[in-house]
Amino acid sequence: MPTHHIIAIDGPAASGKSSVARTLAQRLGFSYVNSGAMYRAVTWHVLQRGVNVHEPAAVATAIEQSRIVCDLIDNQSRILIDDHDPTPHLRDDDVNRAVSLVSGVPRVREILVARMREYAKKDNLVMEGRDIGSVVFPETPFKFYIDASPEVRVQRRLAEGQRDEIAARDRADSSRAASPLVIAPDAIVIDTSARTIDGVVDQIMRRLVGKGLPAHSKTETARRQRMNPYYWLGYTLSRLLAQIFFRFRILHRERMIQSGPLILAMNHQSFFDPPLGDFFSRPQNVARSLVLGLASAQAECHPSRSGRQ
Ligand code: CDP
Ligand code: CDP
Repeated sequence: MPTHHIIAIDGPAASGKSSVARTLAQRLGFSYVNSGAMYRAVTWHVLQRGVNVHEPAAVATAIEQSRIVCDLIDNQSRILIDDHDPTPHLRDDDVNRAVSLVSGVPRVREILVARMREYAKKDNLVMEGRDIGSVVFPETPFKFYIDASPEVRVQRRLAEGQRDEIAARDRADSSRAASPLVIAPDAIVIDTSARTIDGVVDQIMRRLVGKGLPAHSKTETARRQRMNPYYWLGYTLSRLLAQIFFRFRILHRERMIQSGPLILAMNHQSFFDPPLGDFFSRPQNVARSLVLGLASAQAECHPSRSGRQ
């Protein structure tokens, strides 16, 4: 029985599990565990080793022989296999195609489910996947099944520029013998087809409070506490002006990392880019301006040195 709170978020591909689970974990101050990424990681590993993914025994042996290290870093699950970090490859086309075969091998599930349960000894968790509420943590009272119509889900993947046969994966995940994708009898079902990520998270927060979780939004409070007055003034004013004059919107804030250094990459889609790029990349310009220099120091920005191309 885990000593920490576990919130299980299950559902089919592209239903919005990751976006919702990540945002929810940030709001609650819980750690976020993406169990799908663990299955993707071992799939990438066996493909790298040239194992035939249609042979369950060979897949199981390869994974048994691998050194799998799972950890929580910056409140997010991370996995290393034989000292390799598979993160950049988790959405590769060959991984998308093979992951349902690999995750259907009972021994693979046994190995990874044990790792998932280890996480619950370390922290309060929001864990997303296919069988978190039904098999991995059946005893948790906090279970959600996130869904969306097949059309919406296909559109979402296309919008992400991914070639992912989600219908085939859904069929394989739902029909396999080992821990198929099912709605746990006590799970709350939420359709995200016409809902925003924040709207879904708000709904989950209300249900969690209703179920007795001492939940309150930690992110907003933490953000306000962290902002010093200079930063808050600059942030609020520039955001207000940008919203009024340029219909500026902030999307996918939930994907921002919460700590550690950031590299700011301009995509040059806005005429704000050149002055902003200059501000961050040319320390001599920043140093010349007292106001900007002060603001960058307060915002803990460290301008990088760069030469003209
Ligand atoms: O993000 P998306 O919904 O496309 O998939 P994912 O969560 O990254 O999961 C990838 C694959 O891992 C799924 O298609 C399942 O085959 C498998 N999986 C699983 O079997 N059990 C889980 N708890 C999570 C993922
Ligand atoms: O983890 P899963 O595969 O279930 O879905 P996801 O990766 O969280 O979401 C797939 C895409 O749908 C992402 O680009 C999300 O930003 C988007 N999405 C959305 O537009 N509205 C939602 N309510 C949920 C997700």
